[in-house]
Amino acid sequence: MSSVDIPREQWATRIGFIFAAVGSAVGLGNIWRFPFQVGQEGGAAFLLIYLLFIVLIGFPAMLVEFVVGRYTERNPVGALKEVGSGAWEYVGWIFIATGFVILSYYSVVAGWTIRYTLLGLQDGYLADAAEAEGQFVELASGLDAILFHALFMGVVIVIVAYGIQRGIELAVKVMVPAIILITIGMAVYAFTLDGASEAYAYYLSPEFSVIAAEWTSILPAAAGQAFFTLSLGMGVMITYASYLGEDRNLAEDGAIVIGFDTAIAFITGLIVFPILFTAGVDPADPGAGAIFVSLAAAFGDLTLGWLIGTIFFGTVAIAALSSAISLMEVVVSYIIDERGVDRSRAAIGIGGGMFLLGIPSAYDLVLLDLFDLFADQILLVLGGLLLTILVGWLISDLAVRELERGIGDLGSIGTAWVWAVRVPVVLALVAALYLGILEYIAFIQEGFLPWLTEQ
Ligand code: PHE
Repeated sequence: MSSVDIPREQWATRIGFIFAAVGSAVGLGNIWRFPFQVGQEGGAAFLLIYLLFIVLIGFPAMLVEFVVGRYTERNPVGALKEVGSGAWEYVGWIFIATGFVILSYYSVVAGWTIRYTLLGLQDGYLADAAEAEGQFVELASGLDAILFHALFMGVVIVIVAYGIQRGIELAVKVMVPAIILITIGMAVYAFTLDGASEAYAYYLSPEFSVIAAEWTSILPAAAGQAFFTLSLGMGVMITYASYLGEDRNLAEDGAIVIGFDTAIAFITGLIVFPILFTAGVDPADPGAGAIFVSLAAAFGDLTLGWLIGTIFFGTVAIAALSSAISLMEVVVSYIIDERGVDRSRAAIGIGGGMFLLGIPSAYDLVLLDLFDLFADQILLVLGGLLLTILVGWLISDLAVRELERGIGDLGSIGTAWVWAVRVPVVLALVAALYLGILEYIAFIQEGFLPWLTEQ
């Protein structure tokens, strides 16, 4: 079989591409991690730093992936082969590996969101925090978790198998507007709750003293979050941009994607905190399964909480789905381009493999952490860093020319972009990688090895 003669797929519309990229970016990172980071790390002061990082690091790095994808019109492995020589071509492999590992457990977590959507419709949520935690432990691992992991992966496979226009583009054109509308609707609802004003004060009051005291940990955390939330570092944006036909203004598209991603993250905080404060749940103690424990307990306490909870978890499930299809597409595009396998087979084969790799994560939370920390804090950052070095330092002329296609002569702005990529982005990623490795070693020693000896 060979795909050489088949014309490569393309997005049907500009909005299709933008929605797909927004769908990828908006996920668990926005809905859970972001508001809690803001709440804990100094409120509005952290928000300012984060926005600065999005602009200074996230935006240039997203354009790096966009130009590589559009220029080569290939999957990440093929793309890196084309723009990099020698060992650089192997950077594409890191992207494939990262996507494969991340989706394996992302699907397990997404399975929980489906389970929790149904929970609201069945028995409602448990108001007692300890009971809610017990319920989560029960549902998060074991047969239940594996079944919902399979269900979620099955849906991802079907969407990806239908291809760019009829699968992914169609799906995101429904999902992304739904996510946006429901999120806004829920923020309006949350505004009416008793705890709203207290919550806003907690979420939005700047505590500059926290930043001054803890900037060494806040800065890399903000950089890492910027990268993760924008789906950078695993070739998603390379892959999605590779399906762009005409010469569009990539900077404008990137700004739109980033604007939506940041807005959804911010608005989610306006939902989560009023709910927690109204139910009297402490927002300062998140932890791994927090959305399924403290927030679920808050839903157990609110009037009509089962309904609000169902809508909330349903939205999270949709957000996870639109992120998951982008991860699968990275790997599937590689199999199609480089191996000539047809799309449906590629999706089924890859999805099946990811499902199997996810089973340990559905078996025990410690194993999920083991995969998550490795992929998120090491692989993703490493892939992003190497790509940034390649594009910023070695092929920057080509990259600027590609960025100018669809915009026009960039002049000094092009130079500014290249230097943003060369220095701040590279430095942020080096710092994030260093801290990620330290954290991983600590986790192996304090979490994984003790767990292993207990088995
Ligand atoms: N950007 C997603 C989020 O914020 C996570 C993600 C990363 C999804 C990479 C796909 C690829 O949750």
